[in-house]
Amino acid sequence: MSAVTELEIRRPDDWHLHLRAGAMLDGITPSTTADFARAIIMPNLVPPVVTTADAEAYRTRIMAAVPQGDTFEPLMTLYLTGVTDPDDVAAGAASGLIKALKLYPAGATTNSESGIRDIETAYPVLERMSEIGLPLCMHGEVTDPDIDIFDREAVFIDRVLIPLRARFPDLRIVMEHVTSRQGVDYVRSQEKNLGATLTVHHLIINRNAYLVGGIKPHFYCLPVAKRETHRLALREAATSGDSRFFLGTDSAPHADPAKESACGCAGIFTAPTAMSCLAHVFEQENALDKLEAFVSLNGPAYYGLPVNEERLRLVRGEAPLEWPKRVSTGAGPVTVFDPGFPLFWRVEKGAKG
Ligand code: NCD
Ligand code: ZN
Repeated sequence: MSAVTELEIRRPDDWHLHLRAGAMLDGITPSTTADFARAIIMPNLVPPVVTTADAEAYRTRIMAAVPQGDTFEPLMTLYLTGVTDPDDVAAGAASGLIKALKLYPAGATTNSESGIRDIETAYPVLERMSEIGLPLCMHGEVTDPDIDIFDREAVFIDRVLIPLRARFPDLRIVMEHVTSRQGVDYVRSQEKNLGATLTVHHLIINRNAYLVGGIKPHFYCLPVAKRETHRLALREAATSGDSRFFLGTDSAPHADPAKESACGCAGIFTAPTAMSCLAHVFEQENALDKLEAFVSLNGPAYYGLPVNEERLRLVRGEAPLEWPKRVSTGAGPVTVFDPGFPLFWRVEKGAKG
């Protein structure tokens, strides 16, 4: 059988994306809207997107950053705090604006200081979300200083997620950016109301990427990339076609000086080459026929949204793709994720729609 060199799929969505604000928003939004039709927009701005009114204003700001000619729908989320108002959440969901809430354990990651310290403070909101079927996106890591950073996801499942699902069995949860074999196994063990996003970079790098041969801040993100055995489990899950797993890039840009620092920020900017990297990974796994499920079908099915009618065409060239090492923005240059191998798959421009 000759190798596949062209692939046409429904236009993909990104179920976990950081678009930031201000000049950064303007600079990096086109990297996503070129290829993706929709994205779940993370609310961890400073200050965070907490109310439906905040989300409305943020949505308007995002739309102003979408280049002419691109069609893009931001799927807005609210940042769950201890004082989130269930009525505001329900009204936002009923209007169609709010597609999910995001739970950050306080201190778990970038801009998570307003997050949840005591999960019981969120019970009234979680109760209402269960009733109306609004998904909860979870950053699944404990923050206890006595828990090793490589174990924080696995411990979160035992200490937080399992009890929460027992308390709210009807709550629809998305375990965001799963990075461990334990995470994959747990998702697989659950029959309903649990989906999971997987990033591009966690399918490609393990912890050697940021620790071997000098400290490499552009491979540092949260949750941190783990051992090779975990990366292999993530690849297996992504390429299996299992509808519980879908793409959430967690593309999280920071200007280079903030990353290349004695205390560098967590976050990897993958948006510009996300589809090229994914086609490469799925090709390596002999699973190009499962790519559409992962990027275009499983996510909408879990969120109860229609699939995209537009199409996107991927072509495998003979020569390696030229891709920008950096995107310049009004907030400074942002380094693009380097997968460490040449990319051959490109999104054919002008082929969508
Ligand atoms: C994200 C960011 O920079 O906002 N960073 C990251 O490493 N993924 C926050 C997050 O999703 O954890
Ligand atoms: Zn994120």
